[in-house]
Amino acid sequence: MSINRVKGTYDVLPQESYKWQALEDIIRKTLTLYNYKEMRTPMMEYSEVFHRQSELSDMVTKETYDFLDRGDRKLTLRPEGTAGVIRSYVENKLYASQELEKIFYIGPNFRYERPQKGRYRQFYQFGVEAIGTVNPQLDSEMIILAYDFIRRLGLKGVRVRINTLGDDASRRAYQEALESHFRPHVHTLCRDCQERIDKNPLRILDCKIDQHHVAVKKAPVPLDHLNSESKAYFDEVIKHLEAVGIVYEIAPKLVRGLDYYSHTVFEIEADIEGFGAQNVLGGGGRYQSLVKELGGPDLGGIGFACGMERLLLALEAEHIELVKEKSLDAYILVLDDSLKTFASKVLYDLRHQDLQSDINYSFKSFKGQLKHALKMEARYLVIIGQDEYQQGFVGIKDTQTEVQENIKISEITQYLKEKVGK
Ligand code: HAM
Repeated sequence: MSINRVKGTYDVLPQESYKWQALEDIIRKTLTLYNYKEMRTPMMEYSEVFHRQSELSDMVTKETYDFLDRGDRKLTLRPEGTAGVIRSYVENKLYASQELEKIFYIGPNFRYERPQKGRYRQFYQFGVEAIGTVNPQLDSEMIILAYDFIRRLGLKGVRVRINTLGDDASRRAYQEALESHFRPHVHTLCRDCQERIDKNPLRILDCKIDQHHVAVKKAPVPLDHLNSESKAYFDEVIKHLEAVGIVYEIAPKLVRGLDYYSHTVFEIEADIEGFGAQNVLGGGGRYQSLVKELGGPDLGGIGFACGMERLLLALEAEHIELVKEKSLDAYILVLDDSLKTFASKVLYDLRHQDLQSDINYSFKSFKGQLKHALKMEARYLVIIGQDEYQQGFVGIKDTQTEVQENIKISEITQYLKEKVGK
């Protein structure tokens, strides 16, 4: 019996990992530019962090990996990053500084979804949160950041779809309007939606079963139920986006799939060859009650997250190469077994001087070693042969120019350092 990977997961193989590293580099560089600091929270949390009374989204009610540990604690593998970050923000009293906390994170999340291209059961997100202030200019910074990040990757047709759910009062008014709208259709809606009418009619709008139901298509939109403060807040967000020249579109039906949002919500898309509906690369919005629900003070935050597999698939579909995997500076070829210990010493010296180098442990023949060195695209070959060694030399060959020189043993590292410019 052979054991395969778990459904909905994937392996990053050694020859692909450089893409992940390059993507993470761009994430860290961009977020640092905007003055966000990295945070790392556990992959598992007590279930209550996600299973809160107010959170009735499909993601939390149907897709989480919940389990009892050996001490009978109810734990959940995080399905998203925000709730855990807020749990930590509260637990570590980061609010005590009374300053805006600007955080980003990179890590795996777990959702029991139907796997397909760009959708997995374990997937990576990078996410950003700014916690502690309610300010429309900050909402716009978050949207600008998401937009700028996707553009920096080199993707084309980048645009933001944006909407507002308004403040608590507007949201309640909207939910009441939705409830009255759906009530006459209750018996034609799916079983889940029949319950959603009472619990949270907003969730009917992104029901996968009822998405083509005429009542869903004709449902009222949040913009029609905003109070004047919420409308002014949204107008201000838009003004800042316009000042910067962001390509945006107001999407009146966008409500997002999590229940913690109020005010601004947004998603970011790009034109990607063959992607269709999976062209949503990231999304987010403002949350006003999450900090309080997790035991903290009454402070709001805003954030977004992007699926990293989707970003890499998008780059591949658009033929955008982030960076090439760096090839070896030097590769050691040994022509006689008796010189292996000397080769170990040379290899250690090269690495000690920050020269990326390697040797072959599998092939004995010169031909086999050479083939492997060329496959690794090593820039220089350090050829250790008996005769040269006796005279205090090794051969060093430039694989690009094919020029080979005899170099004194004591000068190997110095010579290579100068050659590769280190
Ligand atoms: P979300 O929309 O659920 O938001 O996920 C954000 C992004 O994660 C999606 O746009 C998508 O790119 C990626 N994603 C989601 N599920 C999967 C999956 N099964 N496989 C691959 N990629 C996936 C959130 O998670 C919120 N925490 C965002 C946020 C941060 N809101 C405020 N702060």
